[in-house]
Amino acid sequence: MRELKEKIMSEGIVLSEHVLKVDSFLNHQMDPVLMKKIGEAFAEKFRDKKITKVITIESSGIGPALMTAYELGVPLIFARKRKSLTLNSDLYISKVYSFTKQEESEITISRKFIDCSDSVLIIDDFLANGQAALGLIDMIQQAKAQVVGIGIVIEKAFQDGGRILRERGIKVESLAQIASLSDGKVRFVEEALAK
Ligand code: G4P
Repeated sequence: MRELKEKIMSEGIVLSEHVLKVDSFLNHQMDPVLMKKIGEAFAEKFRDKKITKVITIESSGIGPALMTAYELGVPLIFARKRKSLTLNSDLYISKVYSFTKQEESEITISRKFIDCSDSVLIIDDFLANGQAALGLIDMIQQAKAQVVGIGIVIEKAFQDGGRILRERGIKVESLAQIASLSDGKVRFVEEALAK
């Protein structure tokens, strides 16, 4: 997606060989015009799949996931990382280990919002090692619902998540795929392949 790649090039900050900071438009401040275009792009890629729900994890997945759900005309559910005061029983629960943060967290979704009749699209802001997506897949399977695909805003293709998910036969669509962040530079997969 051209607009997203331009935004990454103009505003993204390479913090290390593994981490790209994009807090000016995705992870802290959010650009609503770009989020709308991202929602349209994901809806275009998954429109034929008869999706009934979009699912993400709080917090940064919510922006792109909400715009996608709006375009598809279905509800968005976000998995919670912290226990809510009003949400304490009848939960799907999964554990997610973050290699980036080196911590395990429990994520939850109320059983009220997904069931076996649902065809679910997962949307997230980053794909690194795929642990967040695997946690969401686990909960969708607990509900006996179907995972129809995964839409990722920025995939770090040099980490394992994309391979792990695609090897499971899941359709993974990323709007920007980063081949490397070495030497303080963002290189997209298409450029790396062109060389
Ligand atoms: P994984 O789910 O693919 O295994 O990723 P990992 O555990 O490594 O990522 C943990 C958190 O760090 C996630 O956000 C993820 O979006 C974010 N993250 C991973 N790589 C990058 C990166 O290069 N840049 C930025 N900016 N974020 C990255 P989170 O903890 O769920 O945070 P948030 O959604 O509340 O912002």
